Amino acid sequence: MSAAQDTAERHILVSREGAVQIVRFNRPDKKNAITRAMYAALAGALADGEADDAVRCHVILGQPGAFTSGNDLADFLAFATTGEMGTEVLDLLRLLPKLEKPVVSGVDGLAIGIGTTLHLHCDLTFATPRSVFKTPFVDLALVAEAGSSMLVPAITGHQRAFALLAMCEDFSGDQAADAGLIWKVVPEDDLERAVMDTAKVLAAKPPKALALTKRLMKGDTTALEARIAEEADLFAVQLKSDEARQAFMAFMARKK
Ligand code: COA
Repeated sequence: MSAAQDTAERHILVSREGAVQIVRFNRPDKKNAITRAMYAALAGALADGEADDAVRCHVILGQPGAFTSGNDLADFLAFATTGEMGTEVLDLLRLLPKLEKPVVSGVDGLAIGIGTTLHLHCDLTFATPRSVFKTPFVDLALVAEAGSSMLVPAITGHQRAFALLAMCEDFSGDQAADAGLIWKVVPEDDLERAVMDTAKVLAAKPPKALALTKRLMKGDTTALEARIAEEADLFAVQLKSDEARQAFMAFMARKK
């Protein structure tokens, strides 16, 4: 096993409870910032769960206070400087619209960048009152990703989508629920139980009927997949821009 894989295994924990597969971000010292290796581990776990008949539902969780602070900004800076991006992020983004089994997620605290957009591909997301959903892409001189430029306006209407994606406003758990971006807000102490209870109910349903219903609701994903690719192209160009490099360097330097 390579050092990167070894680290990713510590930062992405995969476990099972009955027919529910749980993937958990576990890099609390960095507020669960997601590295390339972690993207690969997350995508690998989801793909394994899809392929395994014993798994009937995916669960995605973070840590108390931090679902994730989004993409690791050191990785962004490395790409901006070297041009070496890898395919890990895009591999995950391409997989998400293809997941046939139900996905339940639970957010407590920070849900930044992909920490917000990931839930657009989940089926039921629970959050806590202290959760903060935020997509600071524009402030980092980047563009919306994970199909969010298409999915968020379709869910919320243009103005709330603009507040989230262009103004980079914080959305509380309640605001995210009111906007239809997540399912419901529960007290912190109840979060994981609510997620797991729901996942177990879903795991007990007839799997074929559930998968077909999900597919019918999602409809043809061709346009979404094309949008994810278009966003990724623009994202890659912006990552190398001077304005983005300055934003990443400002974050790295802020405590020095
Ligand atoms: N990438 C890399 N490291 C990150 C990170 C990220 N996205 N988010 C947090 N960290 C690191 C910090 O550098 C810090 O590391 P250090 O202790 O070695 O200095 C550690 O996590 C704790 O973060 P800190 O900033 O001290 O916590 P905070 O509670 O004051 O603020 C955030 C938390 C998430 C608001 C702040 O860290 C932040 O704005 N992060 C960047 C979020 C972002 O822009 N993500 C990209 C989205 S596309």
